[in-house]
Amino acid sequence: MTTKRYTSPDPELDSYYGDLAAKDLRPLWELGEMFTSEPKAAAVPHRWRAADLHELAGRAGDLVPIERGGDRRVIGLANPGLGGAPFIAPSLWAGVQFLLPGELAPPHRHTAAALRFILGGRGAYTVVDGDSIPMTPGDLVLTPGWTVHEHHNPGDEPMVWLDVLDLPLVIGLEALFFEQRPGNPAQQCPARSASEMFYGQSAGLVPVGNQTPAFDGPSSPLTRVGVSIGDSIAGLYGAFGAVMALLDRQRHPGKSIPLQDRIIDVALNESIYSMMESLVPDYLAHGVQRHRTGGRMEGIAPSNAYLCADAKSVVIAAIPTPSSSGT
Ligand SMILES: [Fe+2]
Repeated sequence: MTTKRYTSPDPELDSYYGDLAAKDLRPLWELGEMFTSEPKAAAVPHRWRAADLHELAGRAGDLVPIERGGDRRVIGLANPGLGGAPFIAPSLWAGVQFLLPGELAPPHRHTAAALRFILGGRGAYTVVDGDSIPMTPGDLVLTPGWTVHEHHNPGDEPMVWLDVLDLPLVIGLEALFFEQRPGNPAQQCPARSASEMFYGQSAGLVPVGNQTPAFDGPSSPLTRVGVSIGDSIAGLYGAFGAVMALLDRQRHPGKSIPLQDRIIDVALNESIYSMMESLVPDYLAHGVQRHRTGGRMEGIAPSNAYLCADAKSVVIAAIPTPSSSGT
């Protein structure tokens, strides 16, 4: 018997409880305290003073070689409300990591995801899946789960940052595992990582507190993304027109309109309309407004030009929409 045995003043019920416990069963009606009317938080508000953390982290730098701490010299923040568990909150672990000049925290990866707030120091960098990211005070570096990461401090100042991992959550899911990876030599860290250049200059991240006019320059992170779809489609139709003119000249030598007299006129708007299939005519002619259909292609049937045995082609098209019901 490993589960809790409940008791009752009623001898028959008490005996029943004994039988349940003997079979490792627990009655739900005795677990009422679990279902409270409002959340019960065990973690309590607590302040860890920066001066204490710096002082104690500095002493760890003197006393503990980095190899001794599982390749990371980190002091975890244990919330006093969690009964001694090494977590800052029931679902989060947090700790202060300390990397001395010339030290390397070698590469590894784990299923728990991490973020790092850089607190102090200069000249260090972290590498996440091969992307070297400079670490300066105030920076936030994200390390998604199972990405390989390592920390280098080639500078001459101790480096301190706050690590936060969803360790308790992943432990609760019984999904925590870890792998050490082959080491990499120290390298030159660029001023901006590939991640910053990719995500910081396209949709998704915009500097907070800045007005758009300040970002009109060529180095603005608010760059125009993608291509001009209208010009591209119209250009494609123009190219089709040129190819057809050449084909006509080849098939009808001496009879075709001279190329210099041909004009291929492509309208930008109509090129766009052609890409919208019958979207606009549906609405203009029948008042039909299309809605999202997920993966379904409403009213679309296979269409193509097929070569027949007699070397002739037949075009088969079928679009049964309100504005075009023929085949
Ligand atoms: Fe790690």
